[in-house]
Amino acid sequence: MDDRPYFRPAALDAILADATRLGFAMSCEDRTGSLLATLAASKPAGNIVELGTGVGAGASWLLHGMRPDAHLTSMETDPGRQAVAAAHLGHDTRVSFVTADADAWLDGYTGPPLSLAYVDCRPGKFLRLDDLLELLEPGGLYVVDDLLPQPTWPSDHQTRVDDFLARLSERSNLLGTLATWASGLLVGTRI
Ligand SMILES: C[S@@+](CC[C@H](N)C(=O)[O-])C[C@H]1O[C@@H](n2cnc3c(N)ncnc32)[C@H](O)[C@@H]1O
Repeated sequence: MDDRPYFRPAALDAILADATRLGFAMSCEDRTGSLLATLAASKPAGNIVELGTGVGAGASWLLHGMRPDAHLTSMETDPGRQAVAAAHLGHDTRVSFVTADADAWLDGYTGPPLSLAYVDCRPGKFLRLDDLLELLEPGGLYVVDDLLPQPTWPSDHQTRVDDFLARLSERSNLLGTLATWASGLLVGTRI
C-alpha cells in the first residue's frame, strides 16, 4: 500500500520551501499531516489547538481538514517562525496565531474545552501532560508526533520520550494508541 497522502494543503509546498530556506527542519511530515487533517475534519465547530507552530506546516494540514465553523489557535514562542506561518495562512479567519509560551498558555487558559490538541513542544507533552489533558473535552483528541528518533533531537531527548511513553498507562483519562508510523505517533482520546 502506498501510504502517501492523497490530498495536500494548497499552501504546504510554499511553507516547506520557506522552512528549507530558514533551515527549519522540524515541520511535521506529510503522513502525520494527513492524519491531522483527517482528525480535524472529525471535529465540526471544533476548538483546536497546536502547541508549537513552527513555520506552519502542521497548521496547514489542520486547516485543510477543519470544517468552516472550527477554529485553530496555534502557539509559538519564536515570532520569526510564526510570522512565516502567518504570511501563508493568516488570511484564513479560522486560525489565530499566538506568540506565546505554551507553558504560560496552560496556566492562563480559560476558554472552552479543547476538541483536539496537537502538541508539538515540551509543555503539554513531556511537561504538564496532566494539565493539557484536563483541558480536553470528553472525546477530545490528543495527538503528538516525533516519538521515534529524529535527526533534530538533542542528545538527552530519548530519555524524555522514554519517560513520556512509560507514564502513559498511568493516565486513566486518556485512551491512546501508539504507532511506529511516520515519525512515531500517539493518538489518544480523552475519556
Ligand atoms: C516541532 S516544531 C513545530 C512544528 C509544527 N507543529 C509542524 O507540525 O509543522 C516545535 C516548535 O515549538 C516551538 N516551541 C518550543 N517550545 C515552545 C513553547 N514552550 N511554547 C510554544 N512553542 C514552543 C519551537 O520554537 C518550534 O518552532
